[in-house]
Amino acid sequence: MKNRALFNEYSKDILNSSIFAQCKTIYSHGSISIYDHSLAVAELSFSMVEQSRTVDKKCVVRAALLHDFFLYEWHIPGIRYLVHGWAHPAIAAKKAREFFAVSDKEYLCIKTHMWPWTLFHLPRSREAWIISLADKIVAFKETVLYRGKRRTLQDIASLR
Ligand SMILES: [Fe+2]
Ligand SMILES: [Fe+2]
Repeated sequence: MKNRALFNEYSKDILNSSIFAQCKTIYSHGSISIYDHSLAVAELSFSMVEQSRTVDKKCVVRAALLHDFFLYEWHIPGIRYLVHGWAHPAIAAKKAREFFAVSDKEYLCIKTHMWPWTLFHLPRSREAWIISLADKIVAFKETVLYRGKRRTLQDIASLR
């Protein structure tokens, strides 16, 4: 990433908030928190578009940061675990709008980031496609690198 100052300008209200800090206690893949995962997706998405003159970089950074802002522990056996992949984009989009200034375009980027899992929620902008791609790249890396380092339910309980 070349323009860290611009990235910071777009992301500071989210990264400095106590509600987003809660993502440090929820985990994504392996032992990676949602906070670190979302930051990695935002940094990768931004670095993919920072030279572009046509992509909305602010939208890319903010929607990428908030793409998994669902705020619940999903690795607990039950219905929530089973439907998480399909359900969390809409939950994250709703929560993002509840706590932060989120444009309609950013809202849709969050809601469609899991495509093709969410079959009928197809990315509708370049920004949305970039976030969806960056999420898959980061998730793949995390799954491969941290395979076998998954936290136990006791580890999760100790975070609370
Ligand atoms: Fe997600
Ligand atoms: Fe993600």
